[in-house]
Order: sequence, then C-alpha cells, then structure tokens
Amino acid sequence: MSHRSKSPRDTKSEMTSLPAIQVLSLFLCTLFSHCLTGPGSASKSPACRNIPDSAGYPNAAAWNAFNSTVSGRLVNVVPSAKYCRESVPGGACTDTQWTSAVFRNTIPGAMEQVNWEQGYDLTPPSLCLQNGTTCGQGDVPLYSVEAQTVADIQAAVKFASTHNLRLVVKSSGHDYLGRSTAPGSLLIRTTHLQNISFTDAFFVGSQNMGSAVTLGSGVPAQSVYQQAKLNGKITVSPVAATVCNAGGWVQGAGHSALSPKFGLGADNVLEFYVVVASGELLQVNSISNPDLFYALRGGGAGSWGVIVSATFKTYPTFNATSSTILLVASNDSVVGALATLHAQHIFDLDSIPGGQYFYFVRNGTAADSASYLYLNTYLPNTTTSQSTALLAPFLNASLALPGVSILGEQSSYGDINDALYQVDDSVGANEVLGSRLIPAETYRDPTVVGEVYRELFSSGTTIIGGHLVAGGQVAENANIYSAVNPAWRSAKTHVLIVNEWPDATSIEDIDALRKHFQTQQLPIFEKMSGPDAGSYSNEADVLEPHFETTFFGPNYAKLSQIKSKYDPEDLFIVGAGVGSERWDEWGICRI
Ligand SMILES: Cc1cc2nc3c(=O)[nH]c(=O)nc-3n(C[C@H](O)[C@H](O)[C@H](O)COP(=O)(O)OP(=O)(O)OC[C@H]3O[C@@H](n4cnc5c(N)ncnc54)[C@H](O)[C@@H]3O)c2cc1C
Ligand SMILES: *[C@@H]1O[C@H](CO)[C@@H](O)[C@H](O)[C@H]1NC(C)=O
Ligand SMILES: *[C@@H]1O[C@H](CO)[C@@H](O)[C@H](O)[C@H]1NC(C)=O
Ligand SMILES: *[C@@H]1O[C@H](CO)[C@@H](O)[C@H](O)[C@H]1NC(C)=O
Ligand SMILES: *[C@@H]1O[C@H](CO)[C@@H](O)[C@H](O)[C@H]1NC(C)=O
Ligand SMILES: *[C@@H]1O[C@H](CO)[C@@H](O)[C@H](O)[C@H]1NC(C)=O
Ligand SMILES: *[C@@H]1O[C@H](CO)[C@@H](O)[C@H](O)[C@H]1NC(C)=O
Ligand SMILES: *[C@@H]1O[C@H](CO)[C@@H](O)[C@H](O)[C@H]1NC(C)=O
Ligand SMILES: *[C@@H]1O[C@H](CO)[C@@H](O)[C@H](O)[C@H]1NC(C)=O
Repeated sequence: MSHRSKSPRDTKSEMTSLPAIQVLSLFLCTLFSHCLTGPGSASKSPACRNIPDSAGYPNAAAWNAFNSTVSGRLVNVVPSAKYCRESVPGGACTDTQWTSAVFRNTIPGAMEQVNWEQGYDLTPPSLCLQNGTTCGQGDVPLYSVEAQTVADIQAAVKFASTHNLRLVVKSSGHDYLGRSTAPGSLLIRTTHLQNISFTDAFFVGSQNMGSAVTLGSGVPAQSVYQQAKLNGKITVSPVAATVCNAGGWVQGAGHSALSPKFGLGADNVLEFYVVVASGELLQVNSISNPDLFYALRGGGAGSWGVIVSATFKTYPTFNATSSTILLVASNDSVVGALATLHAQHIFDLDSIPGGQYFYFVRNGTAADSASYLYLNTYLPNTTTSQSTALLAPFLNASLALPGVSILGEQSSYGDINDALYQVDDSVGANEVLGSRLIPAETYRDPTVVGEVYRELFSSGTTIIGGHLVAGGQVAENANIYSAVNPAWRSAKTHVLIVNEWPDATSIEDIDALRKHFQTQQLPIFEKMSGPDAGSYSNEADVLEPHFETTFFGPNYAKLSQIKSKYDPEDLFIVGAGVGSERWDEWGICRI
C-alpha cells in the first residue's frame, strides 16, 4: 500500500468538533463555487441543489416546522460508525452488529457496503471508519424522514422540491452503487412501511389477476418468505435477508433462484403505489399510468418516485431441495478447468428448471493460491435423490479433474420458503462490483469461460460470483412490455466481480480499486460476455461509462421521456440512473 503524506483522518481531525452540517458545507463549498455566488434560487431550474450555507437552504425554523408536518419523524442522520459510538449502549457496535444487515436496518444513515458512507471524492475526503477516532459526515444524508405514512412521504417530497434539496430514498441500504445515500441530502427512509397483505383475487381494473401479495416498500425478503409460508404461497423474491422486494430490487429487474421457474421480480409485479415528484400518490399498473408502470419494472432503482407498496403474483407453495456443495481447486489453472466444466453443465438443471449460485473465491492473492467454489442449488418439486442425480454429472466430472477436491456436501428437502429464507446478510465491508449478463450462447462453446476465470484470478481478482437466475421463464417473458434490459432475455447467467478493501487502504489505492473493474477486469471479462453484453443495474459498477445502454439497452430514450413527464425537475437522481447524465456524481449540481 502506498504511503500517503496526509491521511483523511489528519485533515479531518481539526473539524470534528464542528456540527456535521457546518463541516459538510465546508467540504461542499470547496467543491462547488455556487456556495459563494448563491444557487440562483429565482430561476426555475437552479444549477445546484441547496446545501447548508446556500442562500436557499432551509433555516432551523423551517426544519422544525417541517418536522411537525411529519409528526416528529424527522431525525438527524450520522454515519453508522458514529451511530455505533454515540447511540449504542457501551459506546460501540459488536462485530456481529456491524456486519449484520438486520442490525444496520435500525440505523438511518447506514449503508450495507460501508464504503458508500465515505466521502472519498469530497475535498478534502470525509470518512467515518468503524474504529476511527474522528468522523466526517461523508456521503451520508443530513436528515431522514422515517416515513410511516403516505402523508409523511408526500410532505418530504414537497419540502425537498420547494427548497430544492438533494433527495434520496432508502429502504434497506443494500445498494451496490451507493444510490440510497448522498452528501448534504434529505433522506426518505421507507424501512418502516411493513404492511403485508395476501389476496386470492387481485384486480387490475375489472380483470382478476389471481392470487397476489401487496408489500410495503420496507418489507424485507425474510418477512416475505415467513408470511408466504403461513399463507401457503410463494412469491419471486431476493435470496437475501433484508433486501426489499418493493424497493430497489423490483425497479432494477429483481432476480431470484426461482426466476428460471417464474421469471424476474419485475415480470411478477401487478401494481405499484408511488408518490411522484409533484407529491401526488399514483396508482400504477397496466391501465393506470402505464408508462410509469413500464419504467418501474426494470428502468432502474430510485429514478421515478417513492414506492409506497408493490403487489406481486403469488403461486401455491411447494417443496424443493436446496443443496450446498463446497469444492476446492488447487490453483488458477484448475479453477479454469473447473469453471469450464461448470459452464458445460450449466443446462443440466433446465428440466426443472433450477436456480444456482456459483461463487469462485480465491484464498488470497498470493501466487499458486487455491480457490473455493461454493455451489448453492435450488430445485423446485425435486427430492434430494433427484437433486443428487441432476448434480452428479458435474460433480463426478469435477472430482475427476486433477487438483479438485470436495470439502462438503449437504442437501435438504422442504418448503421453498424455508429453503430461500435468510436469517441475516453478512455486510459491513468496503465493496464494489462490476457485472455482465452472460448470453446463453457463450455456454454453447464454453472453453473461453475457464480461460477468463483463470486469467482474472491470476491477475489479482479474488471473487467471481455467478448467478444462474436467467433462462427458462426469464427468456420466455421476452414479450412482456417493460423496461427490463432485453439482455436478461437472452442471458443464461448474471456474473459479477467483487473488489473489496480494508479500512486501512489509502485513498489512492481505493480510487484504483473503484476503477479496477473498468480498467483491468472488464477487458478480460468481455472475452466471455462479448463487447455489448448488458449488465444488471442493481449489482453492477456505478462507473459504467455507457450505463445508458449497458443497463437499459434500447430502452433509454423511452425512459428519458417518461422521466421528464413524472420528474421534470430531476428530483430523483441516482448514480448511473436515468437523467444522471445531467448531474455531477453527487447529484448536487447540473453539469
Ligand atoms: C446481501 C445482498 C443480497 C442481494 N441479493 C439479491 C438477490 O437475490 N436478487 C437481486 O436481484 N438482487 C440482490 N441484491 C441486490 C439488490 O437488488 C440491490 O441491492 C437493490 O438495490 C436493493 O434494493 P433495496 O431497496 O433493498 O436497497 P436500498 O439501498 O435501500 O435502495 C436501492 C435503490 O432503490 C431505491 N429505493 C429504495 N427504496 C425505495 C422506495 N421505497 N421507492 C423508490 N426507490 C427506492 C434507492 O433510492 C436506491 O436507488 C442483493 C444485495 C445484497 C447486498
Ligand atoms: C423532530 O421532532 C421530534 C419530536 O418532537 C424530536 O424528537 C426530533 O428530535 C425532531 N427532529 C429534529 C431533526 O429536530
Ligand atoms: C475494529 O475493532 C474490532 C474490535 O477490535 C475488530 O474486531 C474489527 O475487525 C475492527 N474493524 C476494522 C475495520 O478494523
Ligand atoms: C398499512 O395498512 C393499514 C391497515 O390496512 C393502513 O391503514 C395503512 O394506511 C397502511 N399503510 C401504508 C403506508 O400503506
Ligand atoms: C487458505 O489460506 C489459509 C491461510 O493461509 C490456509 O490455512 C488454508 O489452508 C488455505 N486453504 C486452502 C484450501 O488452500
Ligand atoms: C409442484 O408439483 C405440484 C404437484 O405436481 C404442481 O401442482 C405444482 O405446479 C408444481 N410446482 C412447481 C413450482 O413446479
Ligand atoms: C457419479 O459417481 C457415483 C459414485 O462414483 C456413481 O455412483 C454415479 O453413477 C456417477 N454418476 C454419474 C452421472 O456419472
Ligand atoms: C495446478 O495443479 C494441477 C493439478 O494438481 C497441476 O497438474 C498443475 O501443474 C498445477 N499448475 C501450476 C501452474 O502449478
Ligand atoms: C414437504 O416436505 C415436508 C418435509 O419437510 C413433508 O412433511 C411434506 O409432506 C412435503 N410436502 C409435499 C407436498 O411433498
């Protein structure tokens, strides 16, 4: 690691006694000259959002009055590390709490990948690290409305709009692109919207769409599985504890182990209730605001309004076998051979069709390191012995490869809701992703797959996550009229590369790691994805230079039109989202 002459903690330490808002305005004013000239609040579309010290920023009395309109549900927001120091009994979070998505959901300012709380790009950088002695507000919002009602959301949207504030929306903080946080912003947190209701007959207009569940936008996937089981149902949901079905997940497309069987989350949604930029609550379905219905299904999280609830199709529940296999490959050449073999068997589960997560994780970066392959397979309506038979061709051939051994194998049979239920998500690290949707075509002649894995691992990559969550019904749903990236329809898998770093890493090295996917890994990765493969916008690199096509394929022009209709002043701007090309990386000034 390179040594930096001036660490962010050094530069920050003299400011830590100032209130967060004052410190933040110092940072932002260094960056944006409008702090000196004033943001021009008379013009209809000011160049910049109002931040503390801008002439148009609300004063304390205005914030207090606003607090009353949201029944006292306005809170000051601090980074999660600061919250742990100040608000947790004993003055610190345990490591178990720090890495728990369920616990972090109790902290308004928390992101699951803690790098998104850090203001690496502010001048000077503003960080708040787990074991740091100083703390900057970084990219964490200043205030949050802890919404419990539609009226809370409407009041917050109107307040942000009237005062030209940077507005962000968060349900779980899982976002891998940092889209649910921004410096100097007002947050609307929908985590408390926990309504769940099942029906056997859900109507869109006069048409009975059958059984369905309506989920508040704060309902975590783990509650969905629990409640669905009690109701004898299953709905396509994330395989995660606190990711919110009716938050970012569905807006990005939403994949699941059940997607090959039932399609994407966005393919299964029947209706939304959304507060749009005007403050209006809209019913959004195939006949009411159908253009917004198109956009909310795949057009990208956080760009359209605040979702209050979403209604998804349900299916009768069934039993499934879930199987876990852990293999070791002794070196990178063996990883290559194993990855090719896995690719050759990617169609083995199609008769079910099954879903699978296949994560190759290198045991460190030293030359000649071994790697693990974690295989989690979910097979609907399949007994354990049928499951074993389906996985045997791949497993037998793997164990016949020199350098591959098996560390463990386990399977269980029972209700699919129990199989997919996660107690918690392990989070709290610094992590960025890059990803591609891998066309089914790639797997027809997959030696390139192994070559790419070997080359990536031998050049420093340590985690390549694979998701067999496409094909089957995802491909068959190609005719659904929605903003889902058409790349999903011809994909077989969604593969992502993870880059992580410890807190002690220098800002320069962090900067290089944030760009690593684009500069180093993508040129190799594209040998298997092809140059124009799309990417799943929810698990991807916020720095994609051509995000308009990479995330949205041919749909961007239409999405831009819909955006200008429902959000003409760009109140809902997120990184690499529709309209973001008009804004700086913080969504604070137009460019
Ligand atoms: C551990 C883990 C497991 C995951 N598993 C899966 C998986 O199985 N399948 C899958 O497809 N993805 C998965 N993801 C990725 C997931 O889809 C994205 O992180 C997604 O953005 C999460 O949405 P969220 O609302 O829960 O997160 P948040 O960070 O709260 O929000 C994400 C985005 O949605 C917007 N948003 C949130 N709430 C609302 C709302 N009420 N109204 C409008 N916009 C809102 C935010 O502004 C932001 O742009 C996983 C991520 C993690 C970290
Ligand atoms: C909003 O009002 C509540 C209730 O009076 C109070 O507890 C809270 O601190 C206020 N929020 C802010 C940001 O002042
Ligand atoms: C912070 O300190 C705790 C307790 O010593 C330790 O377990 C944890 O790994 C540390 N975290 C970081 C990011 O250094
Ligand atoms: C949640 O459900 C209750 C009871 O049906 C209802 O009164 C309330 O408006 C719902 N809340 C939201 C945010 O939809
Ligand atoms: C992984 O690395 C650890 C620490 O170096 C070592 O003890 C372990 O044996 C390695 N595992 C494999 C499978 O090589
Ligand atoms: C599981 O099998 C039952 C009984 O044959 C059938 O009704 C149901 O549709 C099947 N479900 C799935 C997901 O295959
Ligand atoms: C896999 O190996 C096992 C044990 O050696 C054997 O019983 C089984 O027939 C093999 N299956 C296939 C599909 O090769
Ligand atoms: C990797 O392991 C295989 C199997 O043990 C071995 O044949 C090969 O020589 C090794 N390759 C390297 C580069 O070490
Ligand atoms: C589902 O599995 C459970 C055991 O977990 C069993 O009791 C039940 O009979 C099975 N149901 C069906 C329909 O096979």
